[in-house]
Amino acid sequence: IQAKTISNVGLDRKAAFQHLTAAAPLSSYQKVWESFANQTALERDSFLRDVFPSGFLWGVSTGAFNIEGGWAEDGKGESIWDQFGHQGHAYMNQTADVACDSYHKTNYDVYLLRGLQSKLYKFSISWSRIFPSGIKASLNPRGVDYYNKLINSLQDSNIEPMITLFHWDLPQALQDLGGWQNDSIVDAFAAYADFCFATFGDRVKLWITFHEPWVISYAGYGTGKHPPGITNPGVASYKVAHTILKAHAKAWHLYDDKYRSQQHGKVGLVLNSDWAEPRSPASLDDVKAAERYMHFMLGWFAHPIFVNGDYPDILNPVAHLPSFTEEEKLLVKGTADFFDQLAKAQ
Ligand SMILES: *[C@@H]1O[C@H](CO)[C@@H](O)[C@H](O)[C@H]1NC(C)=O
Ligand SMILES: *[C@@H]1O[C@H](CO)[C@@H](O)[C@H](O)[C@H]1NC(C)=O
Repeated sequence: IQAKTISNVGLDRKAAFQHLTAAAPLSSYQKVWESFANQTALERDSFLRDVFPSGFLWGVSTGAFNIEGGWAEDGKGESIWDQFGHQGHAYMNQTADVACDSYHKTNYDVYLLRGLQSKLYKFSISWSRIFPSGIKASLNPRGVDYYNKLINSLQDSNIEPMITLFHWDLPQALQDLGGWQNDSIVDAFAAYADFCFATFGDRVKLWITFHEPWVISYAGYGTGKHPPGITNPGVASYKVAHTILKAHAKAWHLYDDKYRSQQHGKVGLVLNSDWAEPRSPASLDDVKAAERYMHFMLGWFAHPIFVNGDYPDILNPVAHLPSFTEEEKLLVKGTADFFDQLAKAQ
């Protein structure tokens, strides 16, 4: 109502904004919204109509647990999602023991991808299918065969494979040692990533380390709706996010140091975020609220990686926010070769 009133009477909203902000310097986020302060409601609600750039890869994306099935087949180890389902914690007591049965229907799934004229197929590796207990000593060659067969079949169909290393299905054996709350998992993840780069990296050039770490932290350790079902949003969520950021950075450096010059691939991660914007771009309080929202969801992960190796200052009031050492900040900063964001409109 306020915004409408202002535009109806033709008041200069930008001037109103500047009056509000005279006291403190604007953040870059606030400056962006200041430049939109004079948009009409119609302009603000209209869609951008444009075309995708040439070279845009239309693709299809899945996660191992969602589609593979074969949960204990050929030596696969149990993951936290397997156990969660078996204990009756998932929706309607469901399990993914069979799911889409992609483990047995690889050829048919690739046939469907060809039918969709997919240029790219992004899938995840089930860590416990190739390392049943999470560590290399437990290597399961039949699990490795499955992914080799899938990658080769995609290549034969001219579909570019893109691999997600971690799409939530942690080996249960590692969860039993504390999962992402135990710092030593950083090395376990790096060893797993190392194996995957070495084994599949001759054919796979696009890598995602973590799929939606916000969901892992929030749903796995905050609300407890996802395994491991921990409800400790103030402490555990921030702790596991911290560990995941370090594990991501370690895997990126490993690729950069050991594989990039031979394999010429790219490594990044998928960050999910809602999009928040101020109810009125002319209200500094609204702009600040939207900025807080974006930082707590996207900046939590994107700021350390893409900006300066550290959390956004706006997160400082979080009592149990872990801190990076100076050395860790240098290690985390700049560890993504592309920005991949999943967004949904609310
Ligand atoms: C959930 O599934 C398990 C395994 O099939 C079964 O033992 C259990 O009775 C089910 N629980 C409910 C509430 O349906
Ligand atoms: C953390 O993991 C290591 C194995 O990497 C294990 O030795 C240690 O006991 C674990 N810590 C806890 C608290 O479980």
